[in-house]
Amino acid sequence: MVLKDKHVLVGVSGGIAAYKSAHLIRLLRKQGAEVRVVMTRAAQEFITPLTLAALSEHEVGLDLFDPASHHEVRHIAWADWADMAVVAPATANVLAKAAAGIADDLLTSILLALQCPLVYAPAMHHQMWNHPATQRNLHTLREFGAHVIPPDEGELASGDVGPGRMPEPETILAFLEDL
Ligand SMILES: Cc1cc2nc3c(=O)[nH]c(=O)nc-3n(C[C@H](O)[C@H](O)[C@H](O)COP(=O)(O)O)c2cc1C
Repeated sequence: MVLKDKHVLVGVSGGIAAYKSAHLIRLLRKQGAEVRVVMTRAAQEFITPLTLAALSEHEVGLDLFDPASHHEVRHIAWADWADMAVVAPATANVLAKAAAGIADDLLTSILLALQCPLVYAPAMHHQMWNHPATQRNLHTLREFGAHVIPPDEGELASGDVGPGRMPEPETILAFLEDL
């Protein structure tokens, strides 16, 4: 149980694979990790904060400017809290913003402030994955020291086949355990 009592920050961005993040959070909790979840606005189109709050047993971070959290600068406090962070799924958009140092919502502000190991599990249509901008952004993020778990090949939500499927939560968990 290498993750027991570890503080794991889980970022969820707006892709179809967001539903798989629920299972990842369950697995992390089963391993004894403390989990805090941050969702982008787009992620909330795919899965509800209520589900992820119940599974993580903690309030979910949604808004950079949340009146309920004005007693703390949350993007810094949560970045400092984390022993490791994983963004699963990581959209092409989040990868691009993180590579450019853009911090215009709670998740990307935390990503810019993190001091701990950071893992991206990208998931997207293969045409977005193969775009030179996405590949350049992944290269930049690796240069920054982040880890990238490459997506699986297979049938995508669109019915097309190619690279872009988010790896199964068990694979992501094993990667985090090996960090
Ligand atoms: C049905 C649907 C599915 C989507 N799936 C993905 C996806 O798997 N990966 C991705 O990068 N973007 C996907 N997008 C586009 C993102 O939701 C969009 O780029 C959004 O701005 C991402 O915001 P975020 O990165 O802040 O979460 C999808 C959009 C729709 C409408």
